[in-house]
Amino acid sequence: MYLKIKNLNKEFEKGKGVQNINLQVKEGELITLLGPSGCGKTTLLNLIGGFLIPDNGEILIENKNIINLSPEDRPISTVFQNYALFPHMNVIENIGYGLKYTTLKKREQQEEAIKYLKIVGLDGYENLSVQKLSGGQQQRVALARALVLKPKILLLDEPFS
Ligand SMILES: Nc1ncnc2c1ncn2[C@@H]1O[C@H](COP(=O)(O)OP(=O)(O)O)[C@@H](O)[C@H]1O
Ligand SMILES: [Mg+2]
Repeated sequence: MYLKIKNLNKEFEKGKGVQNINLQVKEGELITLLGPSGCGKTTLLNLIGGFLIPDNGEILIENKNIINLSPEDRPISTVFQNYALFPHMNVIENIGYGLKYTTLKKREQQEEAIKYLKIVGLDGYENLSVQKLSGGQQQRVALARALVLKPKILLLDEPFS
């Protein structure tokens, strides 16, 4: 199993959150979480991505517990439900942002960002402010920003919205 989630709990002050989540995901597997609004889908993704700390339980990747790793140290990228693009940056800056924290040289970072710009069909939009994009175009920037890091795990929150 590539990803294992064991007895994961996260309670918010007003209750709810997620209780006793157990999940195993194989390498190459695509998993969909389906459930009504408020059932805890986003909470679980945020726990896996490291944006929330669980009350208890374990998250293991290749049998190593990643609970104590910060989001940027996890081999995981997230496309958030609201995309969470950096509003003061243009398209290519948004896509290349995470590469700043890798060992890639500046030129390589630019080449990779351009490659993913093209993959999501936004060639020609590189210098446009993300605030001038349509919702669907913003979603593609968010997807490119996630994929450019070549994550082992890709989390997509409401990807068909
Ligand atoms: N930051 C938070 N503080 C308090 N309660 C929260 C917070 N985030 C989510 N919740 C609650 O946890 C439950 C699960 O929410 P969420 O994971 O966003 O559901 P979903 O993504 O499935 O619609 C809901 O009852 C929600 O109100
Ligand atoms: Mg949600």
